Amino acid sequence: MPLSRRRFMRETALAAGGLALAGTTRAEKDIPMSTDRPLFVSTWAFGKDANEQSLRIAEQGGSVLDAVERGIHVAEADASNASVGLGGIPNARGVVQLDACIMDGEGQRAGSVAAIEGILHPISVARRVMDETKHVMLAGEGARQFALEQGFASVDLLTEERRKAWEEWREKQGAADNHDTIALLGLDGEGRLAGGCSTSGWGYKLPGRVGDSPIIGSGLYVDGGVGAAGATGLGENVMRYCASFLVVEYMRQGLHPEEACVETIRRIVALDPRPVEELHLNFVALDKQGRFGAAGTNEGFQYAVTYPGYSEVLTGVGVGTGEIGPEGGNRR
Ligand code: GLY
Repeated sequence: MPLSRRRFMRETALAAGGLALAGTTRAEKDIPMSTDRPLFVSTWAFGKDANEQSLRIAEQGGSVLDAVERGIHVAEADASNASVGLGGIPNARGVVQLDACIMDGEGQRAGSVAAIEGILHPISVARRVMDETKHVMLAGEGARQFALEQGFASVDLLTEERRKAWEEWREKQGAADNHDTIALLGLDGEGRLAGGCSTSGWGYKLPGRVGDSPIIGSGLYVDGGVGAAGATGLGENVMRYCASFLVVEYMRQGLHPEEACVETIRRIVALDPRPVEELHLNFVALDKQGRFGAAGTNEGFQYAVTYPGYSEVLTGVGVGTGEIGPEGGNRR
């Protein structure tokens, strides 16, 4: 059941434990958490459908890892989503190249695929890498061959709509707006954490470009004893700071997940020579206590939170002055 306002305020105040949100103006009563399980947190408004699928899988007896994987399938199979899986914006040669990773907080297990082509569910290939090989990451043609050997079908991921848009881009060599990555984090009733991340990456990128999303510690990190964090935005600016790992480390030091996201952005902004509006960073985080939060360099970064009886799109803390693109994604 959704938390009543009174219960929510009591629990959030308890969760906050007097914590000041590092200079943000959030009142303690507004600091988000849930005691209901399983609990799923993901990037962007489109994460809500994915979370709801994760919840269904968990309620049918799936593990939190199964739930994360199957939730991400929803975004990967949605041809209207221009930044994940089928219908993703292709690279500069008109080929859709996908990045994904998955991480199990139990045993710090991880699997990843980078620049994989022609496979509908890279998150599941990443899971097979984790479950079936001695490795953590496979890339390019090797990742695709592994997927085919594992029984994944070869599919054409470039939709007619994206092909036409790519042809127009090729004529003009213009910029690409991008809805961006799904990062989905889960926590079950036994306190087990898992996370996954999947994207088609930067629209019209150089062929072979790999972003933050399949890099453990950059686009995603899960520490089974602390919490999980995921990133969306301009991968180059996430990778240079191991940013999801940093979010988790701030949670390890005792910060609330929202505060950990804010502090990570502040640290990057302090180190990076570029203006904040050029960084395009957004993070979601979830800790082992069920506290969650998000922050972005843009005002209005949306993220989705789902647990039994509750599923909503919320807005993270805006740390900078960046601009959200016309369809909700990051403007580049
Ligand atoms: N965050 C997704 C990417 O930059 O590829």
